[in-house]
Amino acid sequence: MAAKPEIIAALDVESRDDALSLVGSLRGTIGYFKVGSRLFTAEGPRMIDEINNMGASVFLDLKFHDIPATVAGAVKAACAIGVKMMTLHTCGGVDMMKAAADAAAETSAKTGLPRPLLVGVTVLTSMASQDLSAVSCYEGDVESLVLRRAGKALEAGLDGIVSSVHETEAIRKKFGDTPVIVTPGIRPVGSASGDQKRIATPAAARDAGSDYLVIGRPIYQAPYPVEAAEAILAELLEEQGPSYA
Ligand code: C5P
Repeated sequence: MAAKPEIIAALDVESRDDALSLVGSLRGTIGYFKVGSRLFTAEGPRMIDEINNMGASVFLDLKFHDIPATVAGAVKAACAIGVKMMTLHTCGGVDMMKAAADAAAETSAKTGLPRPLLVGVTVLTSMASQDLSAVSCYEGDVESLVLRRAGKALEAGLDGIVSSVHETEAIRKKFGDTPVIVTPGIRPVGSASGDQKRIATPAAARDAGSDYLVIGRPIYQAPYPVEAAEAILAELLEEQGPSYA
C-alpha cells in the first residue's frame, strides 16, 4: 500500500538508459514515475511500456493544450499505451477538457483498459503573480486563478488538478476531498528551488491535502537518489504541522 500522499518521481532525464536506471534503483522505494516532455520527445511511447513492464505506474505529463479534436486524439493515444494518469492544460478551455474526458471514457470502454486519471494543470509552479501578468492581462493573485481553473476542470469532467501546495488547502476547502490533487514544486528542507517559485516541503504538501507529490531534481540530482527518496518518505510518515518553505 502506497503512502499518502504518494510520491511520483519525475524522470526529467536525457535518455532511456538514464530513465530506466533511475526506475531500476528507485523501484523498491517508489512505484510511480513521471514521463514528461523531455523524455517523451527524446525516447517516445516505448518508455511507457518499459516502465510498466518494470511493475511501476506512469504519469504522462505532456500538458496537452490544443483544439478539442486534437487533444481528444492525443488522449485516446495515451489511453491506449497504458498510462495511469495524464495532464492537460486548463488554459485549453472547457470544451477541450470535455473532449478529453469523453475521449478517455470512450477509449477505455472500447479497449477494456483502465481509464487513466485526467488532471488539469492550473498555473505552473514556476510562475508567480508577476510572471502571469507579464504574459497575460491577468493582474489578480495566483490562488484566485488556480481556484477558477480548478472549478472549470472539475466541471468539464476531469478527475483533478495540478497546483502548488500554496493553493491546496483552498482547493480542498472549496471542492472537497474527491478531486485528485497533484503537487509539484516540492522541496525538502535544504534543497535548491531551481526555477520553481511556489514551493513547499513534502510534509507541508501532505498536511495541505495533496494526493500525489511530483518530485524531480531533489531525487534525480541527489548524490544518492534512493536515500533522498527514502528521506522524503520518512518525512511524510512523521507527525508534524504545516511547514511552508
Ligand atoms: O525538478 P522538480 O521537482 O522541480 O520537477 C517538477 C516536475 O513537475 C517537472 O517535471 C515539471 O515539469 C512538473 N510540473 C511542474 N509544475 C506544474 C506541472 C508540472 O513543475 N504545474
